[in-house]
Amino acid sequence: MNAKNSDSHMTTRRAVIKGIGSYLPERVMTNDDLAKIVDTSDEWIRERTGIVQRHIAADGETTSDLAMHAAQRALADAGMQANEIDLIILATSTPDNTFPATATAIQARLGITHGAAFDIQAVCSGFIFALNTANSLMITGQADNVLVIGAETFSRILDWEDRGTCVLFGDGAGALVLSAEEGSGENSDRGILAGKVRSDGRHYDKLYVDGGVSSTQTVGKLRMQGPEVFKHAVKNISSIISETAEIAGITMDEVDWFVPHQANKRILDGTARKLKLAPEKIVITVDKHGNTSAASVPLALDVAVKDGRIKKNDLVLLEAMGGGFTWGAVLLRW
Ligand code: ACO
Repeated sequence: MNAKNSDSHMTTRRAVIKGIGSYLPERVMTNDDLAKIVDTSDEWIRERTGIVQRHIAADGETTSDLAMHAAQRALADAGMQANEIDLIILATSTPDNTFPATATAIQARLGITHGAAFDIQAVCSGFIFALNTANSLMITGQADNVLVIGAETFSRILDWEDRGTCVLFGDGAGALVLSAEEGSGENSDRGILAGKVRSDGRHYDKLYVDGGVSSTQTVGKLRMQGPEVFKHAVKNISSIISETAEIAGITMDEVDWFVPHQANKRILDGTARKLKLAPEKIVITVDKHGNTSAASVPLALDVAVKDGRIKKNDLVLLEAMGGGFTWGAVLLRW
């Protein structure tokens, strides 16, 4: 997607952010709590990942429950009614049911009977894939007011006996409301300016769930080759950030805020070093949320908007990498 028009007088439809909301389940699980379940320590988890605590969904609290809270908060922030929404895209790898899409449950619970709703599955990159998809449908005129949600209950697919994975993840949800508006076609426009998604399925089994409908007829548990994921993460994330900036024709130092997927503090530090990003421009929430997969980017974004760091007209770069491998980025003006 190119952000620029060859004719600078031509207007462009832009997906402009109108509201944001997020939700974390009440229950907080600290590293010390985990040390009572598996052979680990607060020191090990902090040092290797930067994680201090994560939130865990209550018994019976589903992905759609978390998503509903985030969606309602985003709609309130936008000052919009649910029935103004004509498209809902939910990024999740932990749907309520195998089918239908959890997004349709959210649509019904919001009382929306028009438009469309569907899920996107790109694991930790899900929100970036969903945002890029929403942008494409908006600029081609198929949707005007869109809810893009990332929501996960990863606690349900963790092997609570595997200390290599269960310490990394948490539950949560975040949502954005976007509206199509006419822009000038220049990078000074508010809204999504550029985006890119990638995948490489050769790495399918480096981060996967060992069950599924068509293979085992079970839900399965998350399995990961941690060092392998780590090795690819910094490289993929750095390249997608550079490519997305290039599509928009901007340089790294023009970006006001980097809001990365929150997997691991060491991945964020490695990326910052490689791209020479100013550490104070990077929004970090992995300490408090852990890795919430598709929910992590909108959760981090909401924190930085609510605490006043991200302001109207700031240039913000979102990025993520996850299972598949999948990875992607979105550059937007808040
Ligand atoms: N507590 C204590 N010891 C542990 C724990 C734990 N929770 N987990 C693993 N160990 C041990 C291992 O058993 C191993 O012990 P050994 O040497 O006696 O065999 C030792 O620590 C080193 O294990 P490694 O897996 O090599 O540890 P590493 O330094 O690579 O750190 C980690 C592991 C944190 C998972 C790291 O590989 C990593 O961050 N990888 C990226 C994975 C990631 O972030 N995934 C999220 C999903 S993908 C994404 O979102 C980008």
